[in-house]
Amino acid sequence: MDMTPWYTGSVHLHNGLRWLLLVLLVYGIFRHVMAWQQKKYYDIHDLKRNTWLMSTAHFMLVLGMFQWVVGPWGLKNIQNLGGMGAAMKDSVARFWAVEHLTGMFIAIILITIGRGFGKKGISDQMKHKKTFTFFIIALLVIIAVMPWPFRAGIGRPWFPGMH
Ligand code: HEM
Repeated sequence: MDMTPWYTGSVHLHNGLRWLLLVLLVYGIFRHVMAWQQKKYYDIHDLKRNTWLMSTAHFMLVLGMFQWVVGPWGLKNIQNLGGMGAAMKDSVARFWAVEHLTGMFIAIILITIGRGFGKKGISDQMKHKKTFTFFIIALLVIIAVMPWPFRAGIGRPWFPGMH
């Protein structure tokens, strides 16, 4: 079976969905910090929005794992270079083999835990505060390991289809 269309589709989806993830995450950060400061309720919309955010993050993880295992930049690149030791010495290979995967994985866990505070038996203030804290760290990690177009060697287009 020719995997190429599936692979290209996966990369495009992975590229485009990060914007949905970023919008939901940044909006969530603003919402939770404002609500925490202004002592607002943690309402059903907060939990619903964060469930969308978490689901998008989990879907990104599935797409990313697929790409890492079958695509040219994960496992295959490590094998072609002769193993992990050699891949770690090459900054581009290291980014795709380790940094992007590990950083995004940590961010997805932080988003998952952050959303979970909305279901805990704690005060609404604590829900907003803890969710805000976990989300802002997740955002910083995502920004750090994103293949932004201006990054030398690893830069990828802003939007799908601009490859
Ligand atoms: C919040 C989570 C994530 C975000 C925002 C994200 C973002 C991106 C972006 C913007 C690209 C460039 C796509 C393109 O070339 O158009 C990319 C590529 C890639 N990502 Fe992720 N990613 C995430 C999670 C992951 C995870 C968890 C993995 C691995 C398990 C992963 C593996 C990959 C791989 C292998 C590529 C390169 C695909 C290729 O060009 O062949 N990503 N990612």
